[in-house]
Amino acid sequence: MTNMKQIRILSIETSCDETAAAVLEGKLGAKPEFTIKSSVVKSQIEIHKKTGGVVPEVAARAHMQNILPVVTKAMKDAGVELSDIDYIAPTTGPGLVVSLIVGTEFAKGLSMASGIPILPTNHMSGHLYSAFASNPAKAKFPVLSLIVSGGHTMLVVMKDFKNYKVIGQTVDDAAGEAFDKVARLLSLPYPGGPEISKLATKGKTDVNFPRPMLGDPNYNFSFAGLKTAVLYHLDKLPGKLSPQIKADVAMSFENAAVDVLVQKTMRAVKQYKCKTISLSGGVAANRKLREELAGAAKTAKADFIVPDFELCTDNAQMIAIAAYFNLRNNQKAVPASKVKADPAWEIH
Ligand code: KG4
Ligand code: ZN
Repeated sequence: MTNMKQIRILSIETSCDETAAAVLEGKLGAKPEFTIKSSVVKSQIEIHKKTGGVVPEVAARAHMQNILPVVTKAMKDAGVELSDIDYIAPTTGPGLVVSLIVGTEFAKGLSMASGIPILPTNHMSGHLYSAFASNPAKAKFPVLSLIVSGGHTMLVVMKDFKNYKVIGQTVDDAAGEAFDKVARLLSLPYPGGPEISKLATKGKTDVNFPRPMLGDPNYNFSFAGLKTAVLYHLDKLPGKLSPQIKADVAMSFENAAVDVLVQKTMRAVKQYKCKTISLSGGVAANRKLREELAGAAKTAKADFIVPDFELCTDNAQMIAIAAYFNLRNNQKAVPASKVKADPAWEIH
């Protein structure tokens, strides 16, 4: 082991409805080498259940209440003081602007008071790099990364840890958004994704919903059409929906969504000769999607990586990991006065 300098990153995530902070310790040697010293996530699910979805101002207010205790706990759990931290990495986009501002401005305040520089970090690059939380040095490239969350659905080809390209994304609703909306049509509680997948296991008859954009010669997705197909199907059914009909619809919707995701991913794996498939984002918690993609990867003789559940849904570990890789890729730290939340910051 070389005597490479140890760096510590304090990451902060407030892009949607989880207030999170984490501390990463790593080395900037030839190979990626880091450990997560702490990770704290304060979920707002109970608050947003009451409205059936995230109300941005309510989320922002909860972030303001939670941010100081969450960051303090992350530092305490890691056994570090502010003077031990080399970089502060807040998620500065994409996300809900009023939520992003809380984490970003908090990071700026810490930075101004302590002189620690800031590494503005992209939320989607967090989901992307979350796949390399364990054994990063063993990753085989090219990697095809399917990121499926409440706000985004994208396919990214990674040539190595530095060079990546978004080859496709949703043209309308994200996969998670469609799960949440279909759950609402079936009167299931928020967040709908886990509820749909639970109910889908009881489904018996497949309605055979359409697979939007499956045949298109590109890697984009559309989930709004699928959601509308569910709506039209439900409108045609007379009276109150029986539990079995609800389960059939949940299963049929899940089958259609998973089918499109897996088929398009595998087409890209073939075209880009990928050796690894990674699956991340909140919808990666979906059992059916994990199983189908793992099976397809096996058939294609590709490695399959899916992070632990707690790393799939929003967290600050993934932000720290992305900041660590960005630093290795020569991202320069930015003075607090130049940092700004950017709700539309897309990776390319
Ligand atoms: O990545 P994430 O925590 O937040 C965003 O960045 O959006 O993803 C949240 C999304 C929600 O839409 C939620 O319904 C979905 O992930 N989700 C699931 C499952 N668990 C969470 N979707 C399908 N099946 C699941 N088991
Ligand atoms: Zn996310």
